[in-house]
Amino acid sequence: MIALSLAEIAAVVGGQTHDIPDPSVQVTGPVVRDSREAVPGSLFVAFAGERVDGHDFAAAVVEAGAVAVLASRPVGVPAIVVEDVQSALGALARHVVTRLGATLVALTGSAGKTSTKDLIAQVLRTKAPTVFTPGSLNNEIGLPLTALSATEETRFLVLEMGARGIGHIRYLTELTPPKVGVVLNVGSAHIGEFGGREQIAQAKGELVESLPAAEEGGTAILNADDPLVRAMASRTKAKVILFGESAEADVRAENVRLTDTGQPSFRLHTPSGASDVTMRLYGEHHVSNALAAAAVAHELGMSATEIATALSGAGSLSRWRMEVTERPDGVTVVNDAYNANPESMRAALRALVAMGKGRRTWAVLGKMAELGDEALAEHDAVGRLAVRLNVSKLVAVGGREASWLQLGAYNEGSWGEESVHVSDAQAAIDLLRSELRPGDVVLVKASRSVGLEGVAQALLQTGAEGEVAGR
Ligand SMILES: Nc1ncnc2c1ncn2[C@@H]1O[C@H](COP(=O)(O)OP(=O)(O)OP(=O)(O)O)[C@@H](O)[C@H]1O
Ligand SMILES: [Mg+2]
Repeated sequence: MIALSLAEIAAVVGGQTHDIPDPSVQVTGPVVRDSREAVPGSLFVAFAGERVDGHDFAAAVVEAGAVAVLASRPVGVPAIVVEDVQSALGALARHVVTRLGATLVALTGSAGKTSTKDLIAQVLRTKAPTVFTPGSLNNEIGLPLTALSATEETRFLVLEMGARGIGHIRYLTELTPPKVGVVLNVGSAHIGEFGGREQIAQAKGELVESLPAAEEGGTAILNADDPLVRAMASRTKAKVILFGESAEADVRAENVRLTDTGQPSFRLHTPSGASDVTMRLYGEHHVSNALAAAAVAHELGMSATEIATALSGAGSLSRWRMEVTERPDGVTVVNDAYNANPESMRAALRALVAMGKGRRTWAVLGKMAELGDEALAEHDAVGRLAVRLNVSKLVAVGGREASWLQLGAYNEGSWGEESVHVSDAQAAIDLLRSELRPGDVVLVKASRSVGLEGVAQALLQTGAEGEVAGR
């Protein structure tokens, strides 16, 4: 964090200082919520959770060198005491980002936020020091913590924003007001909680509503291929830049194809020129993510060649997203078990087929959560797509939704041994261990709650260490 004295912090968050002998002492280190991350100079943020109460670790973090604790009650060591720790953290983040010289880029969407945020960061950091959301910490706590990790040197601050309802994104934009806002897509993730696609669009569009006007440098970067995102142009005063494959997009991809290894390659067009990209990431869904990243980088002054070079070199920074590992016996394991929604299921199946040309392909799939009324139809459609794409074997893992997947495949013409339904991850592991042959390609994918990464990990243990490709 930029150095701030305890007195300044207390004033910013409206807190009382307790047990602080010298309020001019500065916080110079990171702001942390995990006591194990406290280092000399840190500020420790104590949240009182249901299972763990951060306040219990106050003495230990000060012992580890933390300067003080941001707390909701006195803790016997230096503390700034506030009524509500979360709002105090937000107020501190807001104060700090307004003092930074960094350009704030925020992005949201139903699918691909983390993947795209990692791409944006890997492109921008070839130009200037960049701080970005680690992993998927995109909520009201992760976002301010990330913002507070920026320093005076930071030129670009790239923030993932997640939402589970109306008003969530607006709240996040109030903490860290972005200058550049990106909306990727409106899909079906969390559709059950939101109540429908229109509501999701309403919620995601809050990002572009928050942007400064075009004259003040505000830029909204919108997916031209997604009608609900495209329509958000009318909700912003910012300049609008469109990305996508459609002809009207300012930042476009032409000649999109998947290589034999399942990696997208295309010609990138930006208003300042064109250049070829071949990605290290797997799956055609990354084309859209790459175009969003290219639009941000173009807007922040990078040439098409600089962007294409950075995109071609970008790896996967976050785990279990199309993570491809070769086993010594020639079995390829594609671990995409981080999450699943209908869009990413389709993209992953297409990538599996591209990389499995001439080989046996296995799709080990589990439920896609939170689809509300669309759950049956969407699982059925994924099962059918697996057959249409000619995936060799479908293993549907889990309860009701898995049976819908398998039934979809069965009704599309896959029967007998081509598709099976197993009750849990262990049954899938047992089946695969006995059936896999050298040269097979296995995709493992489901919603986070299913925990199918255990299947991918078990398969990799069977085959001893392999090299992790594309990371
Ligand atoms: N543009 C895209 N369209 C559809 N699916 C995508 C896209 N980009 C990534 N995915 C897939 O969606 C899943 C989640 O990806 P990622 O973690 O990048 O998304 P996210 O929006 O950050 O998710 P979360 O809401 O969990 O934070 C992965 O399986 C990934 O392969
Ligand atoms: Mg994410």
